[in-house]
Amino acid sequence: MAEGKNLVGVDIGASSIKVAQLKETRKKLQVARWGFALLAPQTIIDGHVMNSSAVTEALLKIFHDQKITQKDVAVGVYGQSVIVRKITVPMMTQAELDEQINWEAEQHIPFDIKLMSVDYEVLRKRPEAGQMDLLLVAAKKDEINDYANILRDAKLRPAVVDINAFTIQNMFENQFGLPPDGTIALLNVGAAVSSLNIVSRGVSAFTREITNAGNAITEEIRKQCGCSHEQAEAYKAAGGPTQMVPQEVHQIVLQACVGLAGEIQRSLDFYLATSGEQEITRIFVSGGSAYLAPLAQAIEKRARVPVQLFDPMANLTVEAKYVDEAKLRAMSAQMVVALGLSLRCDRERRQWSA
Ligand SMILES: Nc1ncnc2c1ncn2[C@@H]1O[C@H](COP(=O)(O)OP(=O)(O)OP(=O)(O)O)[C@@H](O)[C@H]1O
Ligand SMILES: [Mg+2]
Repeated sequence: MAEGKNLVGVDIGASSIKVAQLKETRKKLQVARWGFALLAPQTIIDGHVMNSSAVTEALLKIFHDQKITQKDVAVGVYGQSVIVRKITVPMMTQAELDEQINWEAEQHIPFDIKLMSVDYEVLRKRPEAGQMDLLLVAAKKDEINDYANILRDAKLRPAVVDINAFTIQNMFENQFGLPPDGTIALLNVGAAVSSLNIVSRGVSAFTREITNAGNAITEEIRKQCGCSHEQAEAYKAAGGPTQMVPQEVHQIVLQACVGLAGEIQRSLDFYLATSGEQEITRIFVSGGSAYLAPLAQAIEKRARVPVQLFDPMANLTVEAKYVDEAKLRAMSAQMVVALGLSLRCDRERRQWSA
């Protein structure tokens, strides 16, 4: 874990806000506080916050109700406003790279670089070739500012902005370590977006976002059953056939999961074809839609790779006084981004100024 005081992780998703705060006790990590609030369906559309006061109010309520007094937060961003590219540059020192990075970014990013916040991570140095591989990350300043303003309105101080896919990787590494040799896929299936991060030999090798996730399934149920969004959500979460759920729901969910698995497979195929890599050994799924049993089955069948739920709480304890452990554990895969963000500290070297 990095130095300094842990920040509170704030994950503003299309369907809900998730908040987590960690505490280190005798080298063990403990969840000190957490919070969750559903957002109305139209609050966030295509990654843009349409109703910022609804988000601000939900944040104020979570921090108040959960008695979270720490106001310095780490927030996650994703979607169309974020671009991630793996690039190769000549070997250079960090000082040279800091100076050069905007120029390098300009060659790879199809937007005016002055409108972007740019960051990078050195993936691999190859002195024999005089080159190094970087992960270049750029996010639109406008979008970051929108989030920062919402947080400020909620009386919070944004200290770190991170990319959801890397936050998940960070959490995975913290809990289980990354396999030094093999290749795994970290898949987060939320409400609006499914994000895929293929991690090979300990570093991110490929990321992609697919705008198909839980919401599309809910919407299909809503249309075909002629019910409300809330009712469709309840039908979906009820799982397999039960007397309380219309018969057709199970079939709708199955069909949607097969479709989504097909889209995921296309990304896996693209990675395998372009990287020359032989195989992906395991797919770890997180996000609220990871709890849809038919989805894991459909992906497993299609990809012929074992699929496993990523439980970011597997090695965490909780502060019983403030945390409803059973409730948190039941939805831990949905909390992965908030938990990953809460690993971040306020005195890390590189941060985006939000
Ligand atoms: N037990 C469950 N069974 C099936 N689906 C579930 C369950 N719990 C949550 N979901 C679904 O998970 C989705 C929400 O997941 P999550 O909180 O990870 O998304 P989000 O972060 O709000 O959205 P995004 O990441 O796309 O912006 C919703 O579509 C919801 O219906
Ligand atoms: Mg999410």
